[in-house]
Amino acid sequence: MKINIIPTLPESTQILIFPFFKDEVDTEKIREVSGIQYLPPFHGDFKEIASLNHPEKPLRIFLLGLGDEKDLPQLQFAFRSLAFRNHKHWDKGVVVDMSHLPVKAIFSLTMGTYLATYQIGSLKTTDKPESNFFDESFELTVLHSNHKAEALAEEGKITAQAMMNMMHLVDSPANIKTPEWIANYALESAKKYDYHAEILHKEDLEKEGLTALLAVGQGSIYPSVMIKLEYKPENLDSNRPQIGLVGKGITFDTGGISIKPSSNMHYMKSDMGGAAAVIGAIELAARLQLNVHVVGLVPSAENAVDANSVKPGDVINSYSGKTIEIIDTDAEGRLILADALAYMCKNYNPEVIIDLATLTGSSVRTLGYTAAALFSHDNNLVKSLSEIGYRIHERVWQLPLWNDYDSDIQSDIADVRNFSGKPLAGAITAAKFLEYFVKDSAHWAHLDIAGVAFGDSEYTKMKSASAYGVRLLVEYMKKIAL
Ligand code: BES
Ligand code: MG
Ligand code: ZN
Repeated sequence: MKINIIPTLPESTQILIFPFFKDEVDTEKIREVSGIQYLPPFHGDFKEIASLNHPEKPLRIFLLGLGDEKDLPQLQFAFRSLAFRNHKHWDKGVVVDMSHLPVKAIFSLTMGTYLATYQIGSLKTTDKPESNFFDESFELTVLHSNHKAEALAEEGKITAQAMMNMMHLVDSPANIKTPEWIANYALESAKKYDYHAEILHKEDLEKEGLTALLAVGQGSIYPSVMIKLEYKPENLDSNRPQIGLVGKGITFDTGGISIKPSSNMHYMKSDMGGAAAVIGAIELAARLQLNVHVVGLVPSAENAVDANSVKPGDVINSYSGKTIEIIDTDAEGRLILADALAYMCKNYNPEVIIDLATLTGSSVRTLGYTAAALFSHDNNLVKSLSEIGYRIHERVWQLPLWNDYDSDIQSDIADVRNFSGKPLAGAITAAKFLEYFVKDSAHWAHLDIAGVAFGDSEYTKMKSASAYGVRLLVEYMKKIAL
């Protein structure tokens, strides 16, 4: 897809899109351009679509409703939905009249339209969609005369590209998407977008003592890895705070010996949604050349059932030196995160640490598919992430880290245990477990994204990846970069 920004409607236009907020539908303008006197009912409701054919010219017009909130955090979804449903009929390109909208809406337009090119069926051998929409030659022409339009259009495009790369990782099946495969993606991305990536392989993990990560992966035929990412622009002031990001990268979660029920187990290929958020955010930060220093750690393993798997009751070591009693092998995410968080605290000096993980079913039962559960002692961090999350529609909601929950992770025979054994407050006790491995937990935030990383959508028949977290983290980094 090619983007052009021009001030006025070209004579040759064959497909024109008119987006309108609710109750701001400019019927005079529509009549004038469409040559139609009696217009069909159209109110501008969110995702409402109407189409008109000019009686004399080869011109088709789509009216697109944007809903009633001017700053609609979901604006891109109106554009994505329109393009997803209609691109088959768009031959060489479309013209979108944005001239009456705030220039910021152009970011949402290009992001949404690019997201509509996401093709989840890359492994299909038949039924590949045929449409020029997916070609480089397809032209998205935007009518606007603000000088910021170009940069916003470009940012929308590369944001969508980073998100789609992550959707591809999360939607890929676990027999393809091994820990090594994710590591290779990170290495290639780092080379392409000029940031640093380094992989700790099995021998390195053994040497470094990342024993909890190794324990989780010990039943798998695919070796575990730790992916280390770092982005730092050349001329960055030395007083800029460093941001540490950690993402759970379980490529498949069978539950291990504490095996999960088989219904819906296939969705557990999405158990690396936190890893995708971290890799995607750093890739995008590098492409946007943000003025921040960010370090990312992605522990990645497969939680498999095997004679070599860890068993309930086993006591394992961890990078921090603390011993962990494994009550339930399905509480594996917190084990690999414990090592990554401790590694972050020991080897880097981040002012703020944010981890993201598809950690508990409990967070889904608490907040549904609407928001991620947020845990932090740092009120400023809570405020920032809550504000940004609302603004970009990647919402978070805070749950407590009170000491009342401490006893839930105390073990008789080891320093801590990985599960309370009770079907209560699961998202909170998981967060308490992580807290135990963070040095100065005051500047740490944990996001349980189990309900938001992967879900139903109008674009797929089954659940699919959302790329949740990529934008949340990038917007947070932009705030730090100010
Ligand atoms: N990966 C799961 C959590 C999950 C559940 C993610 C649903 C996405 C959708 C995690 O590893 C897990 O199995 N958690 C257990 C923890 C329990 C055994 C303490 C859970 O939530 O049931
Ligand atoms: Mg599990
Ligand atoms: Zn898991």
